[in-house]
Amino acid sequence: MDWVVKHTTEQHPPADLRTDVPHTARVYDYLLGGRDNFAADREAAGSITADWPNLPKSMRANRDFMCRVTRFLAERGYRQFLDIGTGLPTSPNLHEVAQKVDPTSRVLYVDNDPIVLVHARALLTSTPEGRTAYVDADLHQPAAILESTEFAEVFDPDEPVALSLLAIVHFIPDDEVAIDLVRRMVDPLPPRSAVALSMTTEISAPEEVRRGVAAYNANGLPLRSRTKAEVERFFDGLDLLDPGVVLVNRWHPDAAAAEVADEHVHMYGAVAVKP
Ligand SMILES: C[S@@+](CC[C@H](N)C(=O)[O-])C[C@H]1O[C@@H](n2cnc3c(N)ncnc32)[C@H](O)[C@@H]1O
Repeated sequence: MDWVVKHTTEQHPPADLRTDVPHTARVYDYLLGGRDNFAADREAAGSITADWPNLPKSMRANRDFMCRVTRFLAERGYRQFLDIGTGLPTSPNLHEVAQKVDPTSRVLYVDNDPIVLVHARALLTSTPEGRTAYVDADLHQPAAILESTEFAEVFDPDEPVALSLLAIVHFIPDDEVAIDLVRRMVDPLPPRSAVALSMTTEISAPEEVRRGVAAYNANGLPLRSRTKAEVERFFDGLDLLDPGVVLVNRWHPDAAAAEVADEHVHMYGAVAVKP
């Protein structure tokens, strides 16, 4: 087993988890049926789902999209995965999906939430042939990720990277800021690198999602819904793979995804490759 955690509690004072205020990672964990959440997260999730009853189903569809995208890219030869906005560990984690296809797959996880950092050591495991590592960093500072020692240690600079930014850029409401950050992550990656994105949309249930987004914002969690055209802008200059930007359940669906009703899915997803 070979894995690294950058910021450990040995190096820094214990993180202030602010268990009294809701965090997106812990609300998401609760919505997926996880146990790494606190009363404030459950209360926020309860008030959000009162307005947005299909949110747990939509989040499950997003998590299943992560699995299908990772398998798809691993089956096409990608062996280096950079997952920004990892979230709390949930079975299966991205590295488990990639390493099932090829145990030599290497995965670098990045998140900015102290609770995810706390759980990283216990839950980031790897096959002996592969590698997983974790960097405590923020998407707003691409250099902190791209210039980290873990990035240099985990990735071969000549091999393409599969970058995933799933259910994270919708927390960056400003289009220009969000698109610029994605570009700054993708531009330094080698040719043929892939980028997978998923983010909230109201196309399939406008009133429900509008109420739900307002409830997120009322709980102090910034969230923004985007149209298809707004999502497509993130892929300018990249080769968007079939079927383009679609509801996540419609992206190369397996039997389970094919059963999911569109009106229960409020996330667009797509994958593109760098020329
Ligand atoms: C809704 S979860 C998504 C988890 C996983 N990507 C998935 O799709 O299943 C969003 C995660 O992004 C993290 N996050 C939000 N903003 C971030 C930022 N600016 N930099 C790094 N991580 C961020 C949160 O802490 C949370 O763990």
